[in-house]
Amino acid sequence: MQQQFEAVSMTGGHGTNSYANNSLLQRDGANLVKTMIEEAVAEKLEIDTFPSVGTFNITDLGCSVGPNTFLAVQTIVKALEHKCASLGLSSCMPEFQVFFSDHSSNDFNTLFASLPPNRPYFATGVPGSFYGRLFPKASLHFAYSSYALHWLSKVPKEVLDRNSPAWNKGRVICLGGPREVFEAFSRHFGRDVEAFLSARAQEMVSGGIMGLIILGRDDKVAEAKSPIGVIGGVLGSVLMDMAAKGTIEEAKVDSFNLPIFTPTAKEYQKLVESNGYFSIEKLELVRDDSDRSSDVAIDPKMLAMHGRAATEDMVRKHFGHEVVDEVYQRGEKKIMENSHLFKNANVLLPSLFVILKRKADPQIA
Ligand SMILES: C[S@@+](CC[C@H](N)C(=O)[O-])C[C@H]1O[C@@H](n2cnc3c(N)ncnc32)[C@H](O)[C@@H]1O
Repeated sequence: MQQQFEAVSMTGGHGTNSYANNSLLQRDGANLVKTMIEEAVAEKLEIDTFPSVGTFNITDLGCSVGPNTFLAVQTIVKALEHKCASLGLSSCMPEFQVFFSDHSSNDFNTLFASLPPNRPYFATGVPGSFYGRLFPKASLHFAYSSYALHWLSKVPKEVLDRNSPAWNKGRVICLGGPREVFEAFSRHFGRDVEAFLSARAQEMVSGGIMGLIILGRDDKVAEAKSPIGVIGGVLGSVLMDMAAKGTIEEAKVDSFNLPIFTPTAKEYQKLVESNGYFSIEKLELVRDDSDRSSDVAIDPKMLAMHGRAATEDMVRKHFGHEVVDEVYQRGEKKIMENSHLFKNANVLLPSLFVILKRKADPQIA
């Protein structure tokens, strides 16, 4: 039995269950690294060496529907304006073109309808997977992506194969179960990162910068106890409870996996180095167990709503719309029972903050 989805989409629109209304934790993460983005533009971006700075091209890859993407883009454009002014380019300030990019199934209508008025940039939508080419060669100056690159291009086929040692029976996440499952996801993630970086290497100008926030994993925390391991465990056990009650088929649970892999800093560093097109200017885990800088208060309902906005589309396509409400009501209850595991946003979303710079390559740039 195959999963009934390929492209992952967040819940669109502006309703109660929408991603736009349930993405505060991601927004908080982007806010925490705002200063680091500003520093990367100020210190690492050599605008004056670019062949033409008439138009500065920026993209947000996996932008979803906002408002997070608009805030991120605003930070980047302001930092660029500041940089140009500091280089004395004020009288011939480049124009800014922003490409909002996501799967074609993303709710681009809502995104376009909520674009900030009086924005200091031209806005364009670019549909398609960031695991392939999206832009012409050497056309991008700054690529940003937040909380999107942990989504794999698809679920590795071994974990859906009941004859494979990597079969992920009765579980929906790759953390805390058989080693073979983790390894299948890890290998697939490695291939996806290679595809992502190779596509961007073609598209970015030499010296162009990527600022990435990726849901990550702290190598000091046991995989099953990592926040995504715990949340995935909750969803898996809710689905198994519903299978035991006969509301859904157990075989359907066995064939459902969240296509998510959360790398450690070391794992990601190795992949970037083996790709070879980008220098690593910064790569660190933020919002880890020791970080208490966020004051976002988590409650079980909020957590269940965030989980719902990110996974409802997949759950509906695989199990049918009639079970969706029950899945997330049960999820909220289970989170409440385990609320000691979810103290604040930092514990919840350990994130890799990565700044990469496109190396000079005479064949491409
Ligand atoms: C959790 S949302 C993050 C949205 C926004 N960047 C933020 O920080 O709030 C992840 C987004 O990544 C998109 N995404 C996942 N895989 C993708 C892929 N292969 N290509 C393009 N977009 C993808 C999803 O459609 C979704 O909109």
